[in-house]
Amino acid sequence: MKEQLEQIKRNALASLEAAATPAALEELRVKLLGKKGELTAVLKQMGKLSPEERPVMGQLANSVRASIETKLEERKSAIHAAALEAKLAAEAIDVTIPGKAVPLGHQHPMNQVLQQIKDIFVGLGYQVVDGPEVELASYNFTRLNIEEGHPSRDRSDTFYFDDGDTVLLRTQTSPMQIRFMENHKPPFCMLAPGRVFRKDEADATHSPMFHQIEGLVVDEHITMGDLKGALITMMQGIYGTESAMRFRPHHFPFTEPSCEMDMQCHKCHGTGEINGQVCSTCHGEGWIELLGAGMVHPEVLKNCGIDPEKYSGFAFGMGLERMAMGRLKINDLRLIFDNDVRFLNQF
Ligand code: PHE
Repeated sequence: MKEQLEQIKRNALASLEAAATPAALEELRVKLLGKKGELTAVLKQMGKLSPEERPVMGQLANSVRASIETKLEERKSAIHAAALEAKLAAEAIDVTIPGKAVPLGHQHPMNQVLQQIKDIFVGLGYQVVDGPEVELASYNFTRLNIEEGHPSRDRSDTFYFDDGDTVLLRTQTSPMQIRFMENHKPPFCMLAPGRVFRKDEADATHSPMFHQIEGLVVDEHITMGDLKGALITMMQGIYGTESAMRFRPHHFPFTEPSCEMDMQCHKCHGTGEINGQVCSTCHGEGWIELLGAGMVHPEVLKNCGIDPEKYSGFAFGMGLERMAMGRLKINDLRLIFDNDVRFLNQF
């Protein structure tokens, strides 16, 4: 029996040493120490021993069990440590490798131009204000002296929300003139940029949504000369002192007299043609219409509680996309709204 026990011990220690995985260890544990294991089988024969031999063999059996248990624990932690070591080696991160750059966006080109225009007018003392895109017809039309039945009020031009045609998407930023004058006493200079909406099919120069920048100045003794001075200052700030522009007489119900301002076409430089072909950017005109303007109509001042005998003012409304197209030298309006990064990244 003694031989048997020592044999078990030798074999056990050797196979434990050779076991390489937790599963192999567990298998051995059951085989060596389990109820049906080798050691248990030997112990079952203890009854056959003489009373003198029994305690001696018992002691030996216990020490064999203890050695096997100790070895088992040793191997367990060794295998565990090796596995951890391998895992750490496999997952090692090289912290010295440079990180992936996060692509940084930039301001949309049209916002860049808007910012430049705002900067110029703020420099001239204008206050920049914001207003609603969903507007009342009374602000968008009536109080701007645009009477019922005027073609611009037509349902084919304007997005209305109700059958009574009282609530709409503003077709111009001019209602901001009324909103501002309701709440401010002259003198003042205000600038109101924002989105406007018209039922236009989208083409190279039209979009159902576009942007305008409204300007309004009211004080005593304001003249058309002040209007031209402000607009020429703005144009030279954006396009340089060499830029050519012209004022043409026009009609708006809310200004009197009224005019439009054009800038020379940036594509054909005013000739109206490129290589013998009609210039597609200005349609052969040589000029691009940028804005409408004029002296605030006395009726409009009265509608806002301002005495037209004492005060006068000028107003203008310019198309931001047109300004941006000239400034950025692009000839299709839709590029501005497509949000194609290949286009946007050029600015
Ligand atoms: N609101 C006019 C338009 O959309 C432009 C304008 C603004 C004209 C202010 C005169 C004064 O065409």
